[in-house]
Formats: sequence, structure tokens, C-alpha cells
Amino acid sequence: MSSQAKYDEIYGESINQPDLFWGRAAGEIQWTKKWDRVLDDSNKPFYRWFVGGELNTCYNALDYHVENGRGDQNAIIYDSPVTGSVRKITYRELLDEVSRFAGGMASLGVTKGDTVIIYMPMIPEAAIAMLACARIGAIHSVVFGGFAPNELAIRINDAKPKLVVTASCGIEGKKVLPYKPLLDGAIGIASHKPEKCIIYQRPQVTAELTAGRDLSWSELMADAKPAACVPVAATDPLYILYTSGTTGRPKGVMRDNGGHAVALKWTMKNLYNINPGEVYWAASDVGWVVGHSYIVYAPLLYGCTTILYEGKPVGTPDPGAFWRVISEHGVSVLFTAPTAFRAIKKEDPQGEYLKKYDIHTLRYLFLAGERLDPDTYYWAGNMLKIPVIDHWWQTETGWGITGNCMGIDPFPIKAGSSTRPVPGYNVKIMDSEGIELPNGKEGYVVVRLPLPPGCMPTLWKDDERFLEYMEKIPGCYVTGDGGYFDKDGYIFIMGRIDDVINVAGHRLSTGSMEEILSRHPAVAECAVLGVNDQLKGQVPLGFVVLKAGIDRPAEEIEKEVVKMVRDEIGAVASFRQCLVVRALPKTRSGKTLRSTMRKIADGEEYIVPSTIDDASVLISITEAAQAIGYGKK
Ligand code: COA
Ligand code: AMP
Repeated sequence: MSSQAKYDEIYGESINQPDLFWGRAAGEIQWTKKWDRVLDDSNKPFYRWFVGGELNTCYNALDYHVENGRGDQNAIIYDSPVTGSVRKITYRELLDEVSRFAGGMASLGVTKGDTVIIYMPMIPEAAIAMLACARIGAIHSVVFGGFAPNELAIRINDAKPKLVVTASCGIEGKKVLPYKPLLDGAIGIASHKPEKCIIYQRPQVTAELTAGRDLSWSELMADAKPAACVPVAATDPLYILYTSGTTGRPKGVMRDNGGHAVALKWTMKNLYNINPGEVYWAASDVGWVVGHSYIVYAPLLYGCTTILYEGKPVGTPDPGAFWRVISEHGVSVLFTAPTAFRAIKKEDPQGEYLKKYDIHTLRYLFLAGERLDPDTYYWAGNMLKIPVIDHWWQTETGWGITGNCMGIDPFPIKAGSSTRPVPGYNVKIMDSEGIELPNGKEGYVVVRLPLPPGCMPTLWKDDERFLEYMEKIPGCYVTGDGGYFDKDGYIFIMGRIDDVINVAGHRLSTGSMEEILSRHPAVAECAVLGVNDQLKGQVPLGFVVLKAGIDRPAEEIEKEVVKMVRDEIGAVASFRQCLVVRALPKTRSGKTLRSTMRKIADGEEYIVPSTIDDASVLISITEAAQAIGYGKK
């Protein structure tokens, strides 16, 4: 087993003496009241960190830096190739805008413990709204701009926001997408009605405001008095972020203030090996966990400059987009999803665009969000000539579970592996009975409790559903991913073992797509699988069986269900293909053989299950998949 002494020592302390380890890390955060206990384990598995402590996350991200000499340093560089603009906002300016927006929200009656939904494109106002909530102790819930009104409505009903903050439009490449009709649609469907909506009017679209309910961002800011930081308990919620589970009902991952600030600040040096004052770029979206943690909170808590990029890796305007941003702003660390690199590689395999830019400031490329395939790993490494670090994490944890800690004691990299557990995470591979498996054997990837600070302490108003993570193997958090440690102790994450898929780094639920398909009047039953895709890693592929007596053309129904998913979840689901088949393969007890179907669609070897009811169905599934280009080796 290869071993790095410093890592072993730090990792060992984090697992064996978590109080000592995290108590020391908490010294980097400014507290208005020191905690009584680092770890409260009196109500397992509801572990709580820094109990008794009080702080304000926004203070730590902004005021503290202004008070300590970073006022004139850029906090955010907003780089937007889709609007042809770059805007630099210093810590002092950001503090001013955040304090005034916080004051504006307070004037509308938003106060500590209230929830606010933020449905915004990638503009600085999204981060301003998040930080302003943190400033007054309100709980934000950012909803990804690519979600359709129905998904937004589900989140409005669950989070019950007093206020929704949105913009007049988002811009996706060349498409301008008005947001206000989406918001109105969502509020129309939702049973909970927010009292007020604040609309940031962008020059591309002017939204019509609903009298009595809506007001524009600029109107609110014009009269706003700056609000001071409200100290909150370390255990008070900072935000709720909804993520896909196995059903249509998303899970409201809750994040608290204290553990979150401590853990994220710790990762900046130890995992990413960056220094305060340097430029950190997470090319993601504020609607995802990566955006929360590494576009907004961690870089600002640590005194870095963060890049907020409104564009794509390709097409805005070309595959040199990332290299331009890195060279123009002197980026030191880039974090994105492998799919972004696959997109660049597809359009510029020889790296011709890279030759046009000087990207010498870039020290590391970190990738996460989906499996990093070895081809992409080698291509990125050969092009950039810097370490390419795969790290694995989830919305639930909010920061890396496994990775190669560049600031501690870097391990030699193995393609396909995310290296080692990050300090704080006691990662094990177990079978379904909770028996630990030896190196080399694949099983459930679990984390022995307690999860470290910053991970979800529970799901929003749903302790029962939170407990489901711990039900299968008591004392452990079951991540939902499968994987193994190799003989050298390197971890390999092999993919989800449930109905969650990752499409272009976006987490989606096939279960929720099946719920939509089954509502089509002609559909008797259906299955949606995540199949391999060269660009997006995975894409959903649907199969439907029609009710007896339906004699409409299959293509018509296929188109209709594709449209239903796009309308109800959003374009981001990338649900583009659905096949009408005569039957789904099932066991004699009636269970759909989804994993066999997935192997067929991916052209992988499979064993015909002995429990199958009618093996001939597999042939018709194979033929259908092959007819649209799947199912071939
Ligand atoms: N608002 C509205 N629509 C959005 C959206 C948003 N924020 N994000 C994506 N969409 C739409 C896209 O326009 C596209 O619509 P279309 O079907 O009309 O073409 C659809 O959702 C699918 O989007 P996506 O899967 O992103 O595909 P793409 O072809 O537009 O782009 C990549 C492909 C690889 C360039 C893109 O997925 C990418 O940059 N990925 C980076 C991954 C990332 O940021 N992951 C976050 C976790 S780290
Ligand atoms: P999300 O909650 O959106 O961050 O998605 C989490 C899921 O993405 C994980 O459970 C994994 O299935 C997948 N994932 C994230 N990072 C990686 C990675 N580095 N390697 C493999 N899978 C990953």
C-alpha cells in the first residue's frame, strides 16, 4: 500500500480525534461566540458540529477581508462571453452591494430563518443575493436556471419562500431565455405563493412586473439601507439545495453555517493548494453544489478572487474560451466537470486554440461531477502539463469526499481513481450486509459516521428521509455510488447503484422521468436508463410499452413523451430519445431488468438472468436500441 506520511498523519487525526482536528480548523473562522462542543454526538445519527457557537458566514466572506486589507482586491470577476462583458467587483464593492441588498430584503420583511428562492442565471447578482441572505440569517435555496416551471414549483412548495429573487432572462450560448414567464408559470402551479418577487432586469429582456408582487432589483436597491450581519448559531441553516433522489420528489439538502465555513475554508489550502489573493475558477453554475461551494463560499471565505463565468467551454465563441479566461484573469486553479473537457477535446483535439493563450498561471485542474474517464484525463494532462486531479463528491457532502490533497502530500496519480479519502471522511467499501470488503472487491461506497463538518446535518424538514441514507448499513452514510479500493489503497468510483444519473455533470433522476412518461395516456409502462454518451458521460434513454388497443404511430408518441420531459423537468434533462417497444424485460416476480437493459443499450456483455420471464423480449430491446445507434460494441 503506497503511503504518504504527512497525509497518513493528518488523515488519521481527522478520523481518530475529530474534535481536535476540526477545532483547530475552526480557528480560521471568526466567531461572535465560541462553540461549547466541536462535535455533539448525543443524538446519533444527527451529529452537529460547533454546538453553541455563533457566527455570520457573510461576515467571514466579506467584512472580515475588507477589515483586513483586501478591500481593493477583486472578489468576483464576472466574465460573460454571451454578453461580451467583463465586470470586476472588489471586496469593498461587493460588501456594499450585498449589505444594501440585504437591507432591501429586510425592508420587505425578510428576517432570520425565512427562506428565499434564488432562480438566477450566472450573473453577480446571484452571488449577491446568496450572500445577502447569509448576512441577515435568511436561508437561501438556489434553483438551477435550466429547470422548468414545474421543478421550480416543487421547490417553492417545499421551501415555502417569503421571497423569490430572479432575473429577466438567462442567456444560453446564443439563446436568450426569458425567466419571468417561467417564474409566473411556477407560482401559478405552486400551492405556496411567495409574498414578493424581485426581478433583476437585464438589458436583453425587460420583464413585465406583476403589480403588488414584483419589484425590480434597481428599485429595491435605490432606497435600501445597508444591513448589518446577524449572528446565527453554527447549527442554523445557511441554505437548502435541492438535488435529485430516486423519485420525482427532490431532496432538500440542508447546510448549516458553522461546519460549512470551517470545512470549506480548510479545503482551499489542503485540497486545492491555493493561496489567498489568487484567482480560483469553478466553471460550473451557482445552481449546483459546486457553484455554491466553489464559485461563491469557499473562494470568498479564503480571500481569493472567484470567477463567475457566463458561457460554455465551446461555442462562446470557440473551444479556446477557457484558455482565454485563464490567461486574461490569471487563474491559478480551475475546477470543472469532465464533460467540459470532452466538449473542448471534440472541437479542438490538437489543442490549436490553446496555443493562442498564455496560461502559465494555471497550477491545477480539478475535475468532479461525474466519472473522469482515462481518455479525458490523459488528454487534459497532455494539453495542460499540470496535475489533473479527479475528486469525488456529492450535493449531500458539499465538498470532496475523495481526492488527492495537493496542499498536504500529493500522491502519484492513477488514471480512473480519485486517489484517497479526504481527511474527515472515513470511507469504506461494504457489501449489502455492512461487511467491509477487502481491497480489489467492488461494493457500496460508504462513509462511517460522523460525516465531517459541512456535510448535510439533515434534509430540509424531512428527518425521516435523511435517515434512509443510514438505514441500509447502520452507522454508515451510504453514498449511492459503487466502487472499490485497489491493492494500493486507491479508490475507484464506478457509478451510481440507484436511479440517479449524471448528464453533463448535472445530477438527474431517471425515476422522476419515468413518473412523467407513465402519465402519458397511451403509456402502459416505461423504463428510463442512463446510457453512455461520448460527450455528456451519460444521457437518459426511455423505453415505453403502449396500452392495448393504441394504434397511433410510435414516432408520434415518442415525440410527445420527449416533449413532456422537456416541459416538466427542463431542457437540461437532455431526454431526447424514447423507444416504443412491445414489452420490458422482467423477472418472473415482475421487476424490470433495468441493469440488463442498460448493458444492452451500452453494447456490453450481459448474462440472461435466470429469473427472466420471457427472454425473447431482450432481442426486441436490442433491435430497438440498435436501430437508433445504441447497443453496439
Ligand atoms: N438555463 C437554461 N437552459 C439550460 C441551462 C441553463 N442554465 N443549462 C443548460 N441548459 C439547456 C441547454 O441550453 C440545452 O438546451 P437545448 O436542448 O435546447 O440545446 C440543454 O439544457 C442541455 O444542456 P447541456 O447538457 O449543458 O448541453 P449543451 O449541449 O448545452 O452543452 C456542454 C454541453 C458539455 C458544453 C455543457 O454541458 C457544459 O459546459 N458542461 C459543463 C459541466 C458543468 O458545468 N457541470 C456542473 C457541475 S461541475
Ligand atoms: P452531485 O450531487 O450533483 O454533485 O452528484 C453527485 C454524484 O456525481 C455522485 O454520487 C457520483 O455519482 C457523481 N460524481 C461526482 N464526482 C464524481 C467523480 N469524481 N467520479 C465519479 N463520479 C462522480
